[in-house]
Amino acid sequence: MKALVYHGPGQKAWEDVPDASIREPTDVVVKVDTTTICGTDLHILHGDVPAVTDGRILGHEAVGTVTAVGDAIKGFSVGDRVLVPAITKCGRCEYCQRSMPSHCQTVGGIGWIFGHLIDGTQAESVRVPYADTSLYAVPASVTNEQAIFLADSLPTGYEVGVLAGKVRPGDTVAVVGAGAVGLSAILTTGLWGASRVIAIDTNKFRLDMARDFGATDTVEAGDNTTADVLALTDGVGVDVSIEAVGYPETLLTAASLVRPGGTIANIGVHGVPVSLPMQDMWIQNVTLTMGLVDTVSIPTLLKMVASGRIPAEKMGTHSFTFAQMDEAYDVFKNAAENSALKVVITPS
Ligand SMILES: NC(=O)c1ccc[n+]([C@@H]2O[C@H](COP(=O)([O-])OP(=O)(O)OC[C@H]3O[C@@H](n4cnc5c(N)ncnc54)[C@H](O)[C@@H]3O)[C@@H](O)[C@H]2O)c1
Ligand SMILES: [Zn+2]
Ligand SMILES: [Zn+2]
Repeated sequence: MKALVYHGPGQKAWEDVPDASIREPTDVVVKVDTTTICGTDLHILHGDVPAVTDGRILGHEAVGTVTAVGDAIKGFSVGDRVLVPAITKCGRCEYCQRSMPSHCQTVGGIGWIFGHLIDGTQAESVRVPYADTSLYAVPASVTNEQAIFLADSLPTGYEVGVLAGKVRPGDTVAVVGAGAVGLSAILTTGLWGASRVIAIDTNKFRLDMARDFGATDTVEAGDNTTADVLALTDGVGVDVSIEAVGYPETLLTAASLVRPGGTIANIGVHGVPVSLPMQDMWIQNVTLTMGLVDTVSIPTLLKMVASGRIPAEKMGTHSFTFAQMDEAYDVFKNAAENSALKVVITPS
């Protein structure tokens, strides 16, 4: 089969590799019908994730068809259409039992293994460990182009942003960064009845998209971001401030927007230390949350997509075939120039 193989920083190739096959009785093999690229894949290609080594197949999001099942598999059969989420879970370890499979101890000490610790989903087929507890059946009313965004970005914006931030009816919410993850937070903030959602980004195209995804106000990020947001909230700040970029300055912005008693929900993956103004923050009774997505909200989100409440298909702005994998990466990497959000990649 063919797959996108990582060969060290800046190096990748769509090349021939051995076919994905069953190794453990709890495995399933899935033929990949749709995949996509995540910002984390770009981090890997920059060499920021040393656990990813030469020869690893990239990708941690897929929708596909089961082609082989291990002897212990009870819940899936050949031919089933399934969602392969970014997080794999054994279902039995202490973290899985606490609904925190992001730290599943059995699959490698961390729930994110595809395109990280084992071969991933940017391939013609993928081996899925602990498939009974990790895969989701995709309802007939949900298309592949909708389901693919439930593998990572939608649950991340919802769980690490909206749920961790405890958005409640009537709340005012700020979202710093309107990429796929920030837009997912904006899209799902409405499920909890936020009265106002303020999107903040440096990119005008993303701010236009934010309105389309449910933002009531947009603020172009710059020197006056904090003052602009405070002006929109009668000078008090927002109830929930969500960070979805991953830079020190954007976390500081998010922290500057929250009102006393509010929550700062950090989603961004940070690569360097951030120094927070604790001398001002301690007296504000604010909460700061952070974490790796668990993807445990997928069943809820699948229902909301199936019923039309979450238009997940809006995430996909560009489509490519497997043979155009390099082009897909180029467009995604230069998303601002290409008015791109997420790319949808299919076999042909
Ligand atoms: N915690 C998790 O489990 C988890 C999971 C997936 C992704 N992430 C992280 O979430 C973050 C967002 O992911 P994404 O895929 O949406 O990324 P993205 O690059 O598509 O989006 C980031 C957005 O931030 C905007 N931005 C850049 N600098 C800014 C600034 N100074 N002020 C305001 N906006 C600015 C960009 O224009 C872009 O729209 C990343 O750090 C990613 O690694 C975290
Ligand atoms: Zn990802
Ligand atoms: Zn586990």
